[in-house]
Amino acid sequence: MSLNKALQKMNNFLADDQLKKNELLALIDLAINIKQNPEEYSQALAGKSVAMIFEKPSLRTHVSFDMGINKLGGHALYLGQQNGKLGERERVSDYAKNLSCFADAIVARVFSHDSIQGLAEHASVPVINALCDLYHPCQALADFVTLSETYPDLSQVKLAYVGDGNNVSNSLMIMAATLGVDFTLVSPKGHEAAADIVAKTKRLAQASGSKLILTTDIDAIGKQDVIYTDTWVSMGDEDASKKAEILAKFAPYQVNHALMEKAQANMVLHCQPAHLEEEITTELFDSELSKVFQQAENRMWAQNAVLVALFSH
Ligand code: NVA
Repeated sequence: MSLNKALQKMNNFLADDQLKKNELLALIDLAINIKQNPEEYSQALAGKSVAMIFEKPSLRTHVSFDMGINKLGGHALYLGQQNGKLGERERVSDYAKNLSCFADAIVARVFSHDSIQGLAEHASVPVINALCDLYHPCQALADFVTLSETYPDLSQVKLAYVGDGNNVSNSLMIMAATLGVDFTLVSPKGHEAAADIVAKTKRLAQASGSKLILTTDIDAIGKQDVIYTDTWVSMGDEDASKKAEILAKFAPYQVNHALMEKAQANMVLHCQPAHLEEEITTELFDSELSKVFQQAENRMWAQNAVLVALFSH
């Protein structure tokens, strides 16, 4: 097991814009290698313990980290919020310093990106972002592992994200721009990506030579290979009084067979949990075009690649 040179400088995995194209490609390669040869990596985390903080619910992230760490010979500890909320019972900095006494790495799913940055600043061990308000880098890495299984040359892929401009679409478009993947973001007015994320992505797309299209017009979707969607309301943003308004506003942006045909797309992705008949139809989610469970499985291999990279130097 020898680590690609590009990964030898990785100390944390916090946000997508911290990774260069060669680092991302090396992580994708490593994830595929671990997936194909899991026994070669079965001791990569031997004797290591990983503390996993969750401020929000999780199925795939919790299970894929826990089982993935186990497959690497390490030990994972789940910390929900029942023993004290991050930053409330104890400061984020104290959380980070205490956990660093016992754990060899920290995985954290948090409300605010500031908490991730605070953990990374004060921990003496690597920190992995398992979702925050701005980014979901583990998901995006798994998505590009999934895409590269069908499209070995990622620069040939046309990827569109349709729906709420959120943590998942931020990470996806930043990674797409870094990797040179043409990316289209279609969001309703008022739900577009934030200006600073767009500016950052534009710079990356310019450097990689990829196309970046941001639009509110669903009819302008154009030819795509892959369409991606996510919930219209992210965890922590739920407001029952706004539900009807959101459903009406987003209805034209539902990802369904008609949209797939219009875009001539042959793959649909969703990070899950899916709100069936809202952002995606049940029929499409369950169809041959859907690679959502391949995507879910790849969460584990992608995260294991990050863990192996962080522990190999
Ligand atoms: N955008 C969603 C992703 C869930 C995995 C959320 O933050 O709730």
